This record gives sequence, structure tokens and C-alpha cells, in this order.
Amino acid sequence: MSELQNLSYAAIQVVHNFGAVAVVGGSLIALKLRERSMRRKLAQLVLVGWLTQAASGATFGMTTYYFHHALPDISGIATYALGIKMLCATLGILMLAAYLWSGERWKEQLLETAWISSSVLAVTAISSAAFLRWFS
Ligand code: HEM
Repeated sequence: MSELQNLSYAAIQVVHNFGAVAVVGGSLIALKLRERSMRRKLAQLVLVGWLTQAASGATFGMTTYYFHHALPDISGIATYALGIKMLCATLGILMLAAYLWSGERWKEQLLETAWISSSVLAVTAISSAAFLRWFS
């Protein structure tokens, strides 16, 4: 691999890692809070985090395509792990967008369920990352 290619992956990974911190940290912190305005700020952070993960994750694949003229060669467990991450990001984006759109009118119980779900999705995605890394 060329230095430029390594540098590209490293730069994308920096963004991807901070996105992971936002998604996992933001969701878990929001679980502990009750104040609606703080939770709303965290919802914005977590949504940006999910979008960052989807965009930077796709950029990993596009970078490989740019340098090798082929998508990353993964199979088996790595493919499942990537699929799980993509599903978590899709559900996370939809749920946080709904939260920011109409969460003001949601009952406390639904808000709680949303943050539990976001935390479960985030922890599942970051755990899948380990399987994608070591089975590809
Ligand atoms: C559409 C969604 C996503 C895509 C397409 C994606 C894609 C990728 C790819 C291609 C890698 C590099 C794998 C390798 O080094 O072999 C990676 C690494 C990583 N991803 Fe994602 N990802 C997504 C979402 C997420 C989410 C939601 C999280 C965390 C909440 C996450 C956390 C990580 C971490 C921590 C790594 C580094 C793993 C390591 O090197 O040990 N990703 N991701």
C-alpha cells in the first residue's frame, strides 16, 4: 500500500472514530439525563454521529475502489458485521431524525425507549466493528 493510501485510510479512520464516540457516548449519556433540552442537544450530536459513520464508512469503500478499482474483498463474518453496522446506522439515522422532528410531543416512556434503542444500536455497531476489522 502506498503512503498516500495509508494516509487516506488513517484520515477517514480519525473521522470514523470520533463519529463512534459521538454515537456511543451521546446515546449512553442521554440515557442518564432527564432534562429535555439537554437530551435534544445530544440527539443532534448523535444524529450527526450516525451520519458521519455512514459517510465515512462509505468513504472507506470508495477509497479502496479508487486505489484498486475494486471494492474491499470481504466475505463471511466480515460481510455480516458490515451489514449489521449499516443496518444500525440506517435505523439510528431514522430514529434520531424522528426524535428531532417530533420528540417534543413524545411521552417520557417513548423518549426513554428511543434512547435505550439508540444505545443498543450504537453498542451493537461498535462491537461489529471489531469483527469487521479482524475477519477481513
Ligand atoms: C454505514 C455504516 C458503517 C460503515 C459502512 C462502516 C465501515 C467501516 C469500515 C470499512 C471500517 C474499516 C474496517 C477495517 O479496518 O478493516 C470501519 C472501522 C470501524 N468502524 Fe465502522 N462503519 C459503519 C458504521 C460504524 C458505526 C455506527 C460505528 C460505531 C458506533 C463504527 C465503528 C467503527 C470502528 C471503531 C472502526 C475501527 C475498527 C478497528 O480498526 O479496530 N462504524 N468501519
